[in-house]
Amino acid sequence: MKIAIISDIHANKDAFEKVMDNINQFEPDKIFCLGDLILAGYNPNYICEKILELKEKYGENFEIIQGNTDKMVSNCNNELLENAKKSFPCMGYSLEEDIKITDKKYLDFVRELPEKKQVIVNGIKIDLVHGSPRNQSENIYPELMNDTVEEMISGSDADIILCGHTHLPCGYTLNSGKTVINVGSVGRSMTKDKNAVYLQLTIDSEGRFYSEHKIVKYDNEKVSKHILARNFKYCEELASMYIA
Ligand SMILES: [Fe+2]
Repeated sequence: MKIAIISDIHANKDAFEKVMDNINQFEPDKIFCLGDLILAGYNPNYICEKILELKEKYGENFEIIQGNTDKMVSNCNNELLENAKKSFPCMGYSLEEDIKITDKKYLDFVRELPEKKQVIVNGIKIDLVHGSPRNQSENIYPELMNDTVEEMISGSDADIILCGHTHLPCGYTLNSGKTVINVGSVGRSMTKDKNAVYLQLTIDSEGRFYSEHKIVKYDNEKVSKHILARNFKYCEELASMYIA
């Protein structure tokens, strides 16, 4: 069983298209999406439309959960907006614009997504979470102590925990026997090269599994210019984050 797992697309059309080309070559049986479809990119409606097309095409073999920014954009109020502008200005001003440019039907779609899901593939229990099993916004970063990660996932009975949120791919094999994989980010990768990242996971009929992070290049300069063209306050800072 071949599974492609994507996360943190953040309305980045160019990165998403390149990743989907790569995924189509992999010919997965299933696709899982771990949230953060929107916020900070330049084409939230296109991404939501394509995700709904994937849902239609793959049917029960497509799973999706909500990310913290899906929740933030679709439930935004004045207080949240003002706090965001103070704590992380370029994100706060992006948030203000994103609410205006995202279709109501797509805001409704991401607002209603579940925060987490458990699926079973060839006898292997897999938790799909955005941050960690206990918190949608918790950071499972690279190079944490194994005990710290054990604590973060202690409420889960899954064999594999798949997460995103930090935009940094990593993986842990823990003493408890659990495997934790942060799949990285399609549209706002924080790796040094800023390339898009997704995960290929293969589970055989005996329940043995292996995984590989796939690195996919896209035109970061072009995307950065799209962000600049949005022309909201502090968008230069946001645009610079796409460039290595
Ligand atoms: Fe994200």
